[in-house]
Amino acid sequence: MNTGYVHGYSAVEARRLDDQAGVLADLLHSDTAFAPGSRVLEVGCGVGAQTVRLAQAGQGVRITAVDSSARSLELARERVAAEVPGAQVEWLQADLHQLPLAEGCFDHLFICFVLEHLPDPLAALTALRRLLRPGGSVTVIEGDHGSAVFHPDSRYARAAIGHQVRLQSAHGGDALIGRRLGPLLREAGYRRVVVTPRTVYADDGRPALARGFTRNTFVAMIEAVREKALAAGLTTAADWDRGIADLRRTARPGGTFHYTFFKGTAVRQVVSGGLGQCHRPAAQPLSRGRSAAAPGRR
Ligand SMILES: C[S@@+](CC[C@H](N)C(=O)[O-])C[C@H]1O[C@@H](n2cnc3c(N)ncnc32)[C@H](O)[C@@H]1O
Repeated sequence: MNTGYVHGYSAVEARRLDDQAGVLADLLHSDTAFAPGSRVLEVGCGVGAQTVRLAQAGQGVRITAVDSSARSLELARERVAAEVPGAQVEWLQADLHQLPLAEGCFDHLFICFVLEHLPDPLAALTALRRLLRPGGSVTVIEGDHGSAVFHPDSRYARAAIGHQVRLQSAHGGDALIGRRLGPLLREAGYRRVVVTPRTVYADDGRPALARGFTRNTFVAMIEAVREKALAAGLTTAADWDRGIADLRRTARPGGTFHYTFFKGTAVRQVVSGGLGQCHRPAAQPLSRGRSAAAPGRR
C-alpha cells in the first residue's frame, strides 16, 4: 500500500509535517470550525498534525482518522493524546479507496496534503462524497509548487523544485494540484465549491516563518528527494546541492519566499427521499481513543 508515497515515512518527514502544521495553523485553520458533536472523517491523517487542530475545532467533535500507514497512526495517536487529552478520535488503518465505512455517516470530511499523492484524485473525491451525509461539507487543502517564488532567484533552485515535481508525478501524484482544486471538487459532484488561496510570504520581518516554513517545511521536502533525483538521472550531485543551498539562502537575512496553498470547501448535495442518509453503524475501526461512539451512530 502506498509504495509510491514520495515523501516516505521517516522521522525527518514526521517532523516536517509537524513543522508545517504548526507554522501554518492560523493560515489554514483560522476558519475551520465544526458544530458541537460533529462527526468528522479525516482522510490521510499522517502523524496527526492536522488531527489536533480538528479536535479543537468544535465542542465534542468525534473524529475518525484514517491512514494507510500503521506507524503514522501510532504517532498520531500519541500526539493527539498528549496535545488534546479527551479528544474523541477513532483510528483506522485503511486505504482511502476502500474504506469500510457506511454511507452518509459524517457531517464533515477533511483532506489535507493527500490528493497530491493520488493517481486519480477525482475518483477518490467522488467516492469519498458518499460518506458525507447530504448537506455535509468537505474541506480539502493542497499546495502548488508552481507558486514558489523567491529571492535571490536561482535557476538551480528552480530546477531542484522541478525535479521534485517530476518525481512526484512519476509516482502518480501531482505537486501542482492546488490550482485545480476547484474544478476537481465540482467534477466530483460537490456543490457550493469555494476555493481560497492561502499565501505564505516569509522575509526578514518574519524570521519564524522563514525558519518554520521556508527552511523546515518547503526546502526540507525538496531536499528529501535528493537520492531519488540522482538515481533517476535528473540532475548531478553538484547542481542539486547548489539548488538546495540557493533555496536555503532564501530563508536567511535578505531572502524572501512566497508559496500558495489552496483551501477548498464544498457540500454534498441534499437529495429528496432521504437518499444517502446514514442508516447503519460503520465498520469497527482498529482502535479508538477515549470513549468514542462508532462513526455513524448518533
Ligand atoms: C503528506 S501526508 C499528510 C498528512 C496530514 N494530512 C497532514 O497534513 O499532516 C499524506 C498522508 O496520506 C497518506 N496516504 C496516502 N495515500 C493514501 C491512501 N491511498 N490511503 C490512505 N492514506 C493514504 C499517507 O500515508 C500520508 O500519511
